[in-house]
Amino acid sequence: MRQRVFSGARPTGRQHIGNYLGAIQNYVNLQEEYDCIYCIVDIHALTTLENTDRLQEDIYEMMLDWLAAGLDPQKSILFVQSHVPEVMELHTLLSMVTPLGWLLRVPTFKEKARMQPQNVNYGLVGYPVLMTADIVLYKAGVVPVGEDQLPHLELAREIVRRFNSIFGPTFPEPQPKLTSFPLVLGLNGTQKMGKTYNNYIELSATPEETLKLVMTAVTDPARRYRSDPGHPEVCNVFRLHHFFSSSRVDEIVAECRSAGIGCVDCKELLAKGINLELEAFRERRASFAARPQYVADVLSDGACRAQVIARETLAEVKEKMGLVQRPA
Ligand code: TYM
Repeated sequence: MRQRVFSGARPTGRQHIGNYLGAIQNYVNLQEEYDCIYCIVDIHALTTLENTDRLQEDIYEMMLDWLAAGLDPQKSILFVQSHVPEVMELHTLLSMVTPLGWLLRVPTFKEKARMQPQNVNYGLVGYPVLMTADIVLYKAGVVPVGEDQLPHLELAREIVRRFNSIFGPTFPEPQPKLTSFPLVLGLNGTQKMGKTYNNYIELSATPEETLKLVMTAVTDPARRYRSDPGHPEVCNVFRLHHFFSSSRVDEIVAECRSAGIGCVDCKELLAKGINLELEAFRERRASFAARPQYVADVLSDGACRAQVIARETLAEVKEKMGLVQRPA
């Protein structure tokens, strides 16, 4: 049997360039060599959402992004987390072998608690346990993620080790798989690109919207006038050129250092590169958007296939933990 890959993303809106460079590229590539399972984690999204009015729409939009990026339901299982509720049962069972101290130390928990002091809910503390349940329910060994998820995976491995040592070998220790661009900074050049910081470019933005957003990006702060030489090594726009203008990087470095091009020129070039790279994606997205029934069928079929595996693992876990089936 081929090794299994699992990954997930929160449906908090459309996918952005950070998701694409940090994770989605790997989701797509791994489909060729592994049995892949990709999940839209709507329960995780509930830990931060105060208003869930847009949740169903966001799930659908995210699926369009994934399909357009090249996730193929013939090769991978694509589904919505809450459609396979076994994960919530496993979450509860795993919580019994997870010391609270481990969870309170997780940096993302501390950050979320700081950002939403009015809503430090129990689900937020258990977030990494649910994430562990996601992965081990399918006994996945490889988890493509961006760098920000590494602390969660570290914790998942600790939970797995603890479970395996108490109840006998059951789960593989999940290993992260990073892309060559594991942390994409946002347009302000300081925090990671993400919905939380409103500093992102959606993959499905129009070319005009993309140009407008790129124009707001922070560049080398030392370059105040057009004639000042630039320092590409400190510039976030330049980092993005590495991916979106890869064939022209040397030229851009030389022209930036010699003030041959200004930051406005440089950003125009970047927007052009992004729009070129995403042109085919945007066309495919529009064609999937015209087939909502197809999208619904993919998710329905994905949930059925995921549930077969989930039920098998859950039965094994319950037996190992000393729980017996309800008498007939
Ligand atoms: P989420 O929804 O925040 O992000 C989805 C994926 O995109 C990556 N990513 C980035 N990579 C590089 N630079 C960025 N600026 C950037 N922003 C996002 C994330 O690292 C992630 O891989 N906890 C997860 C969802 C999850 C999950 C799982 C992941 C739930 N269960 C099981 C893997 C396995 C999350 O919130 O991702």
